[in-house]
Amino acid sequence: MPQLRLDRFLSGQLPEVSRSDAKELLKKGLVTVDGVTVKRYDHKLDPEKAVVAVSGNVITYREHLYIMLNKPSGVVCAVRDRVTPTVMELLPPKMRRQGLFPAGRLDKDSVGFVLLTDDGELAHRMLSPNSHVPKEYFVRLEKPVTEDVAELFRAGMTIDGGEKCLPAELEICEHNIECFVTLHEGKFHQIKRMFDATDNTVLYLRRIRIGGVILDDSLEEGEARLLEENEIKGLLCYD
Ligand code: URA
Repeated sequence: MPQLRLDRFLSGQLPEVSRSDAKELLKKGLVTVDGVTVKRYDHKLDPEKAVVAVSGNVITYREHLYIMLNKPSGVVCAVRDRVTPTVMELLPPKMRRQGLFPAGRLDKDSVGFVLLTDDGELAHRMLSPNSHVPKEYFVRLEKPVTEDVAELFRAGMTIDGGEKCLPAELEICEHNIECFVTLHEGKFHQIKRMFDATDNTVLYLRRIRIGGVILDDSLEEGEARLLEENEIKGLLCYD
């Protein structure tokens, strides 16, 4: 692992700590590396091996952040937007880090699981047209849906403009106006367009799963938490 400067390590791992705050902490003698107080900001360390603590609290090194956000309606999946609030603005300060972005999009009026990360390689793998990471949605419709539609989804539908979709799963539930849909790709407004093509309308759409990771139902809309190690593996095991 390349060596990292201590002030960079601190400001990179502790989002509420700027580079100058880091230098202050060091000057005050509050930082230890492998149990020894270090005051020099340009002290070099191997972030994978060194045990760094601030005021006795050990910092767990994370090369990348993976965040599960329960997106509410009315915010956009973008890093910044001039008019509409973005998913980034919902993050508590301690989760903010340079380079974070939403890996995949939900429409402004859709809700549910959005993955935020600064791991460009993972995002690229998940977003590439060849990636078939399954994403599952809970959908409420205007009109009842029938098994014929499930068959159309299974066969791979053609939607407006002649776009061919990969086979998708549709599981019908409550009064036939609620269902679960699993997609293996992510075309623009895909689920809405698939139901439009069957003369139905999506009234409510919530993403509940990405790959092997299920949206945590203890997260209120607008709340976020870091993914656990086993959940990160649940994202990486798909191609
Ligand atoms: N399909 C849609 O139509 N909208 C979304 O936000 C996600 C999938």
